[in-house]
Amino acid sequence: MSPGKPRQSGSRGQAGGRGSGSRGQSGRGAGPARRGGSGTTKRSQPTQPPRERTPRKEAVDVHDPDGVRLQKLLAAAGVGSRRTCENLIQEGRVQVDGSTVTELGVRIDPLKQVVHVDGERVQLDGSRIYLAFNKPYNVVSTMSDELGRPSVGDYVDQRKERLFHVGRLDYDTEGLLLLTNDGELANRLQHPSYGVTKTYVALVPGPIPRDLGKQLREGVELEDGPVSVDSFKVVDSQPGKAMVQVVLHEGRKHVVRRMLEAVGHPVESLVRTDVGPVKLGELRAGKLRPLTPREVAALYKAAGL
Ligand code: URA
Repeated sequence: MSPGKPRQSGSRGQAGGRGSGSRGQSGRGAGPARRGGSGTTKRSQPTQPPRERTPRKEAVDVHDPDGVRLQKLLAAAGVGSRRTCENLIQEGRVQVDGSTVTELGVRIDPLKQVVHVDGERVQLDGSRIYLAFNKPYNVVSTMSDELGRPSVGDYVDQRKERLFHVGRLDYDTEGLLLLTNDGELANRLQHPSYGVTKTYVALVPGPIPRDLGKQLREGVELEDGPVSVDSFKVVDSQPGKAMVQVVLHEGRKHVVRRMLEAVGHPVESLVRTDVGPVKLGELRAGKLRPLTPREVAALYKAAGL
């Protein structure tokens, strides 16, 4: 039994699926403009109290004449075809800096302005890189190693961008390590206050007592303070061995190994399968894959950005 091949559920869809929705027009701006107050109308409609105009930011607030057309940027970011993106804008599903934009002429600055589609952040800065890496066993989680051991940097040394690894895995832990040049996101994903969860699968000596999950959820005392898991389950068990899954939002060094050792189940091998909404999936050890726009959006959300 090895924790190296955890079963994953189906992968997330591409962001291009956004355009398939058939939400109708919001009605904003539809119909002729109404002029009120003249009292000269000939239409014999029942008198109604004047409708309060909903204050809303006009597109002009976000329009940057030197910018790039919004639908072009959305299409380039992988949200969908140019036509799909135009529909999304006209359907009122696109916000720029918090204002809904429904007109197609709007241009924005992709490096300064923040865009959401259906509430999900879209990264428009094409220079930003987001990669999932399956760190193999016996690789150091640094970009280079003074001792000459294999390091994460060896796997990305052909790339010209300066990438950061989001947190670390032990030399002898395999699994998901995110690499990016987006410093703000990387910092937040590592900061415990944002509570981004990490999921691990560990091979430990069995059998696992019934109340171990409760004990781990309630907390275990370690030398540098208590630790608790968000969830715990036994994934598989054989005589004398068990594969367990733990989810926690802690980043302390060797925390999973120390915690399981403290409860009498020292880790024999350890794999990280998820970081927040991103799953390792079928990515093989030593391989990289770009995150989908939807995964990036989900990471932004998890990190409160
Ligand atoms: N906890 C550990 O003990 N090791 C890791 O590599 C990651 C979390």
